[in-house]
Amino acid sequence: MIPQAAPPQRIARFRREIDAAVASVLSGTSYILGSAVASFETAFARYNGSSHCIGVASGTDALALALRALGIGPGDEVILPALTFAGSAQAILHCGAQPKFVEVDPRTRCIDPAAVADAINGRSAAIVPVHLFGHPCDMPALMALADRHQLVVVEDCAQSHGATLDGRSLGTFGHAAAYSFYPTKNLGCIGDGGAIVTSDPGLADRLRSLRNYGFAPGERISRTLGFNARLDELQAAILLTLLPHLEASNTERRTIASHYRARLEHCPALGLPPDLEGCVYHQFALTYRDRDGLMAHLAASGIGSAIHYNPGLHRHPAFLGCEASSLHATDALSETLLSLPIQPEIAKGAVDRIADAVLAFVEADSR
Ligand SMILES: Cc1ncc(COP(=O)(O)O)c(C=O)c1O
Repeated sequence: MIPQAAPPQRIARFRREIDAAVASVLSGTSYILGSAVASFETAFARYNGSSHCIGVASGTDALALALRALGIGPGDEVILPALTFAGSAQAILHCGAQPKFVEVDPRTRCIDPAAVADAINGRSAAIVPVHLFGHPCDMPALMALADRHQLVVVEDCAQSHGATLDGRSLGTFGHAAAYSFYPTKNLGCIGDGGAIVTSDPGLADRLRSLRNYGFAPGERISRTLGFNARLDELQAAILLTLLPHLEASNTERRTIASHYRARLEHCPALGLPPDLEGCVYHQFALTYRDRDGLMAHLAASGIGSAIHYNPGLHRHPAFLGCEASSLHATDALSETLLSLPIQPEIAKGAVDRIADAVLAFVEADSR
C-alpha cells in the first residue's frame, strides 16, 4: 500500500538526529519554554525572513492568538476562503469575531481578491488568506485591499512552509502569519505545534504574554487574560532538527509535482494544480468529475489518496450561521479535488505507478 501521507516515514528518515534531540531535552533542565523553544523560534524567524517567531501549541492557536493580539474580537468580521481546514474558521470564532466565507480562484484554489473586495463592509476587520496546498495567494492584491480599508492580515501558512511569491517568503506580507506543525505538514513534529511570525515587536511581546497566561516576562502575574498555548520543548527540539532539511524536502516535492505533471497533463479530463513558482506542494491535488470513483480505484490498486476539503466550511454545521456569498467554485472544487501522495518519503519512486493507475481509470471511464 502506498499511503497518501505517512509522518512516521519522515521521522524514520531522520531518526538518529531526532533521537539525539529528544535525549538532549530529556536530560535538560526545563521542559517548558526552555532553550529548545527559544532556539527554534530564532531559527524559524530567520528562515522565514521575519524578526520574531512565537512558538505555540497548534496552528489553530497561532491564528486565534494572532487575531486576538491584533485586536480582533466581538463585532468584527474576518474574511477567509471557504475552501480550507476547519481550524482557519474556528480560530476566528474563538476570538468572538465572525468568519465571512468567500470564493476561491478556481485556478489557484486560493482566496479570490475580487471576492474579498466584494465582501468588505463596515464590520470587516481582517483577512485570513490561506496559502492552500502550498500555493501562494495573490498577496499584493490582498495587501492593497487591506491598506485601502485598514484591515489586518494574518496569513494562514499552515500548508506553505518555505513557499515564496516573487522571491519573497510567504508569511512576511501580512501583519502576522500562522504556521501549523501538525505531523503531516511540510515541517511537522510528532504531536501538535504551531508558531506565529511577525516583524512587529509590540505584537510579538503581546503574543508571548498571551500564550503564557497573560504573564509579563519573568513574572507570574496575569496582566491580561491569556492561555496555556505554548509550544513544548520536545516538539521544538524535533522541529529544530527537521528545519535544516525543509528546503531539500520542498525541492523533492517540486520534482515529484513536475513528474506528475509530465505524466498527467496531456489528459484534459484531469484538472492539475497551477504551476506556480514558489509553490511547496503541501498537496498535489487534481480535479476529476468522478473523484470518488477515482479514489476507490486508487484504493483498490493499493494507492492512498485524500479529499481536501469536502464540504467547504460554509456547509459545516458549526459555521452555518456565518455569512457566505454563493460559492460555486468552492462547491465544484470540493466535489472534485483529490490529493495524490506527495510526501517525498512515499512518492519519490511511486509517481509512475500512481499516474498509471489514474490514467487507467480515466481512460476506462471515458469509454
Ligand atoms: C490551512 C490550515 N489552517 C489551519 C490549520 C490548523 O492547524 P492545527 O491542526 O495545527 O491546529 C491547518 C492544519 O491542520 C490547516 O491546514
